[in-house]
Amino acid sequence: MANLEVKNLAKSYDGKNNVLKDISFSVKNGDFVSILGPSGCGKTTTLRIIAGLIDKTSGEINIDGTDISTVPVYKRNFGMVFQSYALFPHMTVFNNVAFGLKMRELSKNEIKDRVDAMLELTGLTDFANQFPDNLSGGQQQRVSLARALVINPQLLLMDEPLSNLDAKLRLKMREEIRNLQQKMKMTVLFVTHDQQECFAISDKVLVMKEGRIEQYDTPQNIFHHPRTKYVAQFIGYENFINIDKKLDDHKSVSAGIQFDTADTDQDAVAMTIRPENIKVAEEGDDNLISGMIISREYLGQSFQYTVQTVLGNLKFEEVRRAMRDLNEQVTLSLPKEHLHLLSE
Ligand SMILES: Nc1ncnc2c1ncn2[C@@H]1O[C@H](COP(=O)(O)OP(=O)(O)OP(=O)(O)O)[C@@H](O)[C@H]1O
Ligand SMILES: [Mg+2]
Repeated sequence: MANLEVKNLAKSYDGKNNVLKDISFSVKNGDFVSILGPSGCGKTTTLRIIAGLIDKTSGEINIDGTDISTVPVYKRNFGMVFQSYALFPHMTVFNNVAFGLKMRELSKNEIKDRVDAMLELTGLTDFANQFPDNLSGGQQQRVSLARALVINPQLLLMDEPLSNLDAKLRLKMREEIRNLQQKMKMTVLFVTHDQQECFAISDKVLVMKEGRIEQYDTPQNIFHHPRTKYVAQFIGYENFINIDKKLDDHKSVSAGIQFDTADTDQDAVAMTIRPENIKVAEEGDDNLISGMIISREYLGQSFQYTVQTVLGNLKFEEVRRAMRDLNEQVTLSLPKEHLHLLSE
């Protein structure tokens, strides 16, 4: 396994527009890192450059401190799993998994031992002599995973490997991938545009926007402390309050009202808070804002209301209480420990 370091990576397909702009990040040996971002932001391009399948325009890719730019694909000991399983249809499961070992000219016995062990690990022993066409989507994806892992890759690169599976199988497979990764102490780079999926299995998440890194952090930090409005929106925050003026690190003014935050960010342009963290104010609460309920929704465990205020519409959630009326006037409190500052 290996440490990966990407430095100032840029890529232009047409010599004019850079689809990757100065990407730098590193992945520690044994870490599971997901690249998260909307369609077209450059996730696949980043992965394919690291894999050696396409050329970079500038920058460096280092493995354990050594630049691998000039190492050809077949000499990079990387495992790759794609969205389409890319299995060889005319080969049995055993031969599909054995492929990379045969290319490396290992002895027949060693190939058999390693393939058998990998089939066992991925739960495919009973399918060794089947052809891919006879397998379910999840089984085919396991074959492609086994084929990538059997070479003991220094780095495992996965590009939306679960997107062709139904929701239930997707959940199961992501657990299996995480378990295998931990068992084998593998360094993994995993591309997805599914926020929940990447939070569930990653040590760190790299959020991309238009060819740049927006935030690179642990899932917990990204969830609780999104750095920018873009990241916050992408991971499901809906309440955004523009800041008109900053008084000091902890005090911001919006629509003439002063708000206190626990966060500090002198360059903040907006604040955000999750609906479940807003509450109807009681005596002694701070960060108050009044408004009128303009819509309501039953969520099963709770009700969600949209409240029209001078700050714009705010959504808040309330549990264990009868449904409030439309047009009811409410005063809300935005607790400062949940009110996060966002940069541009
Ligand atoms: N072979 C290519 N030639 C020219 N432009 C390309 C090529 N491949 C990708 N692009 C462009 O580069 C940008 C990034 O594409 P990329 O495939 O890396 O995005 P992505 O984040 O993987 O998107 P998705 O989630 O849809 O897979 C896009 O604007 C895309 O149109
Ligand atoms: Mg892609």
